[in-house]
Amino acid sequence: MLCIEAKSLSRSYGNVIAVDSIDLSVEQGKIFGFLGPNGAGKTTTMKLLTTLVSPSSGTITILGIDTSRYPLAVRKKIGVVLQQPSYEPTLTVEKSLEEYGMMWDVDPKTRKDRVEELLSTFDLQDIRKKKNDDISIGQRRRVQVAREFMHDMDLLFLDEPTAGLDPSARRGLLDYIKGKVQNGLTIFFTTHILEEAEYLCDKIAIINRGKIIAIDTPDELKNKFGREKTIKIRIGNVKDISSVLQGVGNYEVGYDEGTIITIHSADSEQVLVKILQALQSNNIPVEDLSVVPTSLEEIFLTVVKNSNASNISSGK
Ligand SMILES: Nc1ncnc2c1ncn2[C@@H]1O[C@H](COP(=O)(O)OP(=O)(O)OP(=O)(O)O)[C@@H](O)[C@H]1O
Ligand SMILES: [Mg+2]
Repeated sequence: MLCIEAKSLSRSYGNVIAVDSIDLSVEQGKIFGFLGPNGAGKTTTMKLLTTLVSPSSGTITILGIDTSRYPLAVRKKIGVVLQQPSYEPTLTVEKSLEEYGMMWDVDPKTRKDRVEELLSTFDLQDIRKKKNDDISIGQRRRVQVAREFMHDMDLLFLDEPTAGLDPSARRGLLDYIKGKVQNGLTIFFTTHILEEAEYLCDKIAIINRGKIIAIDTPDELKNKFGREKTIKIRIGNVKDISSVLQGVGNYEVGYDEGTIITIHSADSEQVLVKILQALQSNNIPVEDLSVVPTSLEEIFLTVVKNSNASNISSGK
């Protein structure tokens, strides 16, 4: 079953088209990653899908329910952690979780168990009696994310949940999310940390200027856009490197404790062989060598750059 289905979804603010006719489908039990530069339309999309903002046009079905006709029925079945901070300054950490559970009508016994489980999972035990006003920004974010797990839901929307979290808190949250998904939860997730998307997501959509410009599994995105690899070779100081490397393709030269040759190529193996032959016939020893596959980050930058360029050339 599809958990999220959006068709020709658009939302404008005045003359800004924040979301521009996007189609989305997310299957149950999957983690869907939503990436894009600042102002691309991620939060607006999330607010549309969670009924917090109404579409200018298009349709949304969440867990089989039409959001424009039955927004309350949708809200009962989903969890949402928004990008902007939200907390009750004078409540303690444990009370924040407790009250959130009450708001969702979770029975007292389950509530108590969940508070303990979440305090420990999100490493909040030591600050459980502190007021939200008196804890750090990252700790507050952890409380904001943790409290959402107080209630049962079928689908959870997370808008940059890991922003401001330290590496171990971040990894803890990602692994907790993975466990929940194994138990059937579906997640719609935005992030700017691309390793995170790669670690977590079954499918990734990249949005730019309101339009979806790529959508696929992380592996397929790499296949499609990331066949290039980066080769780095460090040699000693060579005065006239360009005459040595004639005819081996495009390369850049930098200097850092020697000469560093960097090549981006889809035929990395062939280029590498050519360069090594050229260096050898000139008696230049190789000091260090690495071949790095394209990261999701580079793909992201390329796809967004190409999309901006095509918008400019088509006068948009
Ligand atoms: N309430 C609003 N009123 C007017 N314009 C808005 C409003 N909310 C968003 N926008 C505009 O809509 C566009 C998309 O914003 P959105 O918040 O969806 O971006 P985002 O992808 O979430 O960015 P970020 O990575 O910075 O969180 C931006 O141009 C933004 O200025
Ligand atoms: Mg946002």
